Amino acid sequence: MTDSATLPREDETSNSETCARAPVGLLAELTHRCPLQCPYCSNPVDLERANTELTTQEWQHVMRQAAELGILQIHLSGGEPTARKDLEDIVKTAAEVGLYTNLITAGVLLTKERLARLQELGLDHVQLSIQDVDAANADRIAAYKGGSDKKREVAKWVRELDMPLTINAPLHRQNIDNLPAIIDYSVEVGAGRLEVAHIQYYAWALKNRAALMPTREAFMKTVEIVNEAKERLKGILVFDFVVPDYYAKYPKPCMGGWGRGIMNVTPSGRVLPCHAAESLPGLEFENVRDRPLADIWLKGQAFEMFRGTEWMKEPCRSCSRKEIDFGGCRCQAYALTGDAANTDPACSLSPLHQDWAQVAKEESHKPSPEFVYRRMGKSGPAAGA
Ligand code: SF4
Ligand code: FES
Repeated sequence: MTDSATLPREDETSNSETCARAPVGLLAELTHRCPLQCPYCSNPVDLERANTELTTQEWQHVMRQAAELGILQIHLSGGEPTARKDLEDIVKTAAEVGLYTNLITAGVLLTKERLARLQELGLDHVQLSIQDVDAANADRIAAYKGGSDKKREVAKWVRELDMPLTINAPLHRQNIDNLPAIIDYSVEVGAGRLEVAHIQYYAWALKNRAALMPTREAFMKTVEIVNEAKERLKGILVFDFVVPDYYAKYPKPCMGGWGRGIMNVTPSGRVLPCHAAESLPGLEFENVRDRPLADIWLKGQAFEMFRGTEWMKEPCRSCSRKEIDFGGCRCQAYALTGDAANTDPACSLSPLHQDWAQVAKEESHKPSPEFVYRRMGKSGPAAGA
C-alpha cells in the first residue's frame, strides 16, 4: 500500500478546494470492442485496439490498488466488457478486495450460465442498456439485429438470479416518444432503477447531434412523464433523470467535479479524470503500467489541471454556484468554445449560451439526417432515421 492510499472522504476532510479525497468510483473500460454501433457512443473518437489492452493480471492489480486507495465501487464498462474472456477473473479479484462490482453491459454477448458464474464470483449489480422498447427501432439505433429481444432475455436472467438491475435508456429524438413504454418495460422486467439520460453531445454523439436532438417541447414532456411516474412508482422504481444540457439553465457537475469523486481507466491503462478527457489538449495521461493509481489520482497533471476552482475564469470564478456545478463539463466547454477552462455553454451565464441554445432549436426542428455509425477502424453513414 502506498502512503497516499485510503484517503479521507468528503466528511472527513477540511474545506480545502484542492485537497484530493478518495474517489468513490472507478470506471474500468475493460475494452473498446463492442458489437453495437450506437450513434451516441461516449467512448473516444479514436478507439484503443485489442492488442493494447491491459492483461488480466494488470487489471487485477488495478482492482487491488483501487481498494487500497479507498474506492468503493468498480464499474466494469467498455465498449462491451463481456467481450473480455477474463471478465470472471477480474470480477473475482474485485470482489475479493471488497469492491462493489457493477457490470455495465449491452447484454447481447451474455449467456445465463456466464451471468450465474459472474454472480458466484462476486458480481453485485447489472446495469443493462437498451436503445428503445420498439425492437425494430432499437436494433436500427444499435445497428445490431436481434439485440432488443436478447436484452429482454438478459433482464429476465438477472432477476431470476435475484440480482439488482438498472435499465439504462439513453433518450433522444429517435426514441423519446416511447418514454412511457420504456418506464413500463423497466417495471415489467423487474428493474429497481431506471436511468433516463438525455444524450450528452461530445465524442461520437456530437457527430450525430442533429439526428439525436429532441425539441424543447418534447424534452419538457419527458419532465412531466418522469415526475408523474416517480410519484406513481414510489417504492418500485427509482429514477435517475439526466436532462439535456442544451435546454438546461445551469450545467451538471460533470463527473461530480473534475478529479473529485470518479476516475476512469482506459483499456490500455491510461488514467483519466473523465471518459472523454483525451479530447482535451495539454493534458498528460499517465498509465497504471508506469505509476501507482494513488499517485496518479493525487498528483497526476491531468487531475490537477481542473481540480477545485482555482483554474476558473469569469463568470464561474465569482459565481456562487462554482462549488455546486464546478463550471459544468470541461470536455463540452472545449468542444464548443475551444478552451476547456471556459464556462460550459450549457450555463445560461455563459456568453455563448444563447447561440448554443439556438443551434439546438434549429437542429431539432429540421428533418433528421442519417446516423453516422461508429465501427472499430472505420465510420461512415448508414441507414439512420
Ligand atoms: Fe456554474 Fe459557472 Fe454557470 Fe456559475 S457561471 S452556474 S459556476 S457554470
Ligand atoms: Fe469530460 Fe464532462 S465529459 S468533463
